[in-house]
Amino acid sequence: MTDEISRLKKEKDAIILAHNYQIPEVQKIADFIGDSLDLSKKAQSVSQKIIVFCGVKFMAESAKILSPEKTVLIPSLNADCPMADMVTGEDLRKEKKRDKALKTVCYVNTNAETKAECDVCCTSANAVEVAKHIDGDKILFAPDENLAHWVSLHTKKRIIPWKGFCYVHKQFTREEVAQSRAEHPDAVVIVHPECKPEVVELANEVLSTNGMIRYVSSSEKKEFVIGTEYGLVQRLIREFPEKRFYSLGTPKICHGMKSITLQDVYNSLKYIRYEIQIPEDIIKRARKSLDKMVSKTYGDGA
Ligand code: 13P
Ligand code: SF4
Repeated sequence: MTDEISRLKKEKDAIILAHNYQIPEVQKIADFIGDSLDLSKKAQSVSQKIIVFCGVKFMAESAKILSPEKTVLIPSLNADCPMADMVTGEDLRKEKKRDKALKTVCYVNTNAETKAECDVCCTSANAVEVAKHIDGDKILFAPDENLAHWVSLHTKKRIIPWKGFCYVHKQFTREEVAQSRAEHPDAVVIVHPECKPEVVELANEVLSTNGMIRYVSSSEKKEFVIGTEYGLVQRLIREFPEKRFYSLGTPKICHGMKSITLQDVYNSLKYIRYEIQIPEDIIKRARKSLDKMVSKTYGDGA
């Protein structure tokens, strides 16, 4: 299967991009693995005609918006992020109508139509920098209320959180942090900012998935408790065999991310499916907020 995928990639002039939460088999055949910020930047710069995006739909849509001339494929129709459906473009239009001074920052975990309505997009890696730099003091931050809370701790601006959440990160608890600390007293506890504030406040570090990899790579510490989806824990175990990694509590699984199999990647390349289609006017408007997200203004992410 792996050989066939390599052959089809060359034949069709395609590149495979994969998020850190993909199953190990898919990560292994990917040309590039990363977090949402890195994957968006990569999608903008690749030379191949086809991008096979192994992640959830909003990520593949972002690749299409940033590289509209390319064919962007998502290998599974079940690769959804429920959080992306928790706010709509219509919701943002209503809020902006109610308060003309309101600035809107959308987490990249949103649908294309929502991105078309917001002022700037961000990822977990650059959310704080985006909020600091935006021209305005009152910011509606959608859809993740936990990331909004994390941002509000790091800027003097008024952050109004939308009431969305990630069902995966919401499962981490204070009790799991306490138990991990008791079991692994020398470990650094690192969590994703989508975790609940009561978990975030007990962690040593709060980072995006690539931020976690960078942190581990430059740390002299040998043990780490990881509070994010299990795919990232598996990547760390593979890439840093000399260090030890423990999931915070039971492994947490994102079913949308895990819906993509090696067979799906093969079928995607063979039958050129499933193509991401976004109306041109939505691409044009969403591009403005996404271009800001990947611009140098907000740094390389954390
Ligand atoms: P990252 O940008 O940190 O990879 O996070 C994406 C995501 O969906 C987290 O649940
Ligand atoms: Fe969405 Fe949560 Fe899955 Fe990330 S882990 S893609 S936020 S459901």
